[in-house]
Amino acid sequence: MRVLLIFFLLLSKQCLAVKVKVAHIGAVGAMKNSEKILQLSKEQLIQEGVLGDDFQIEILNQMGCGESYEGVAVGADMYHVQGVRAFIGPYCNAELDAVAKMATFWNIPIVGYMASSNSFADKSVFKTLARVSLRTTNSLAEAAAALIKHYGWNKVAIATNTGAVAFERVQSFEEVFHQRGINVVRKIMLDEYTNAKAIMNSGLLQELENSARIVVCAFSSTRDMTKEFMQAVTLSGMNNANYAWILPWLQIETKDNAPWLGDDGEYQQNVKDHFANAFLIDDVNGFDNTLVTPFKERLESNGYSTDDLEMGLYCSDFQKNIYGYIHLYDALRLYALAVRATMNETGDENSYLNGKEVWNHMRRISFPGLVSNAGVTSGTVMMDDIAERAPVYAAFYVPPNSDNVRKVCELEPVLLTNCDGTKTGNGCYELQITDLSTRILAIS
Ligand SMILES: *[C@@H]1O[C@H](CO)[C@@H](O)[C@H](O)[C@H]1NC(C)=O
Repeated sequence: MRVLLIFFLLLSKQCLAVKVKVAHIGAVGAMKNSEKILQLSKEQLIQEGVLGDDFQIEILNQMGCGESYEGVAVGADMYHVQGVRAFIGPYCNAELDAVAKMATFWNIPIVGYMASSNSFADKSVFKTLARVSLRTTNSLAEAAAALIKHYGWNKVAIATNTGAVAFERVQSFEEVFHQRGINVVRKIMLDEYTNAKAIMNSGLLQELENSARIVVCAFSSTRDMTKEFMQAVTLSGMNNANYAWILPWLQIETKDNAPWLGDDGEYQQNVKDHFANAFLIDDVNGFDNTLVTPFKERLESNGYSTDDLEMGLYCSDFQKNIYGYIHLYDALRLYALAVRATMNETGDENSYLNGKEVWNHMRRISFPGLVSNAGVTSGTVMMDDIAERAPVYAAFYVPPNSDNVRKVCELEPVLLTNCDGTKTGNGCYELQITDLSTRILAIS
């Protein structure tokens, strides 16, 4: 009798244990190993005791981001029919926008892992959204501003192109430059799909020549447009030490090859020459492959071979999605750590249902991400005061007559105390710059 009672007690405790359904909305045709990466992340969280009997999760994977905004319908169905109470993704900007607004309305947490659009930083709209993606537009704008101030340049021109994507980017850059006291003296607007020759014939480079020496580029298609633009600049005799061409490496989703690598990875010296004297701002590991090895080791130490994952290690597919996989892993981690912290604080095992409260615990949190073991700087995930990733960037200088890209400085975020990002509208951090190269910059 007594044994039976204990048995029933145990059974009922088991039934009461919280099992949260977490949805991942990916993208049709992208990152086909997402489920495995999420599983790996979940196993790690169980090992560490972040997940446990009192807080279990079930991951439901669905696809979105195709041609008809299906992710929005999927999101609504997952919440209402399947009982999902947290989201990771959607992958793309358009669907994250819709699902994150619904999540605000439902008051459940949502973590973006790829979408880079600036609008998501507005937490008066997206009240329960956190993002672990690097290279968001606003953080690259902050990095460009910090670099410009660091070198004492206060007047800049912006080169951009027509179209909505570039428009949003430039808006973000102008806003940040204004806040940081950087004067935009000129803005030139190229056609969206133009080429070097047309740029040279447009007379717009002469406008730049007459007004500025520091030029910040923000195009819709960074790699392709920058190639054309820098070729035009070079052929016009303006690529020399009198100018600084600042190229924040704005990318939409996947990791691009360096512009001087062709589609098959072949090195193109003639293209590289056009980038001499330019500054690229990117993720601190952006121009090397330091992320690849620790990622592979991590998978292998957990019993996955990279063959299992059907990704040839150095093939372009893997290269392209490496940020996606790392961010996906880290997104689930961020969610689980925040729910655990909320449960710890409130003592309420249903606190995962309070999206705003969970979101609050995603602010200012730091944790080792997927690739942090190998001492890779960008492996540590640091969230800012509005639960956006506080990124570690670097500026890379392309020396003339050299094969290598030289890292000239690193920009590391330092969180400010006594700052409330929900009031200031920014992440409450400053970028601290460490010089790695003593090249003297005498442009003014
Ligand atoms: C929650 O509390 C446990 C036990 O005190 C602690 O070990 C753990 O680090 C806490 N977790 C978080 C995410 O705050």
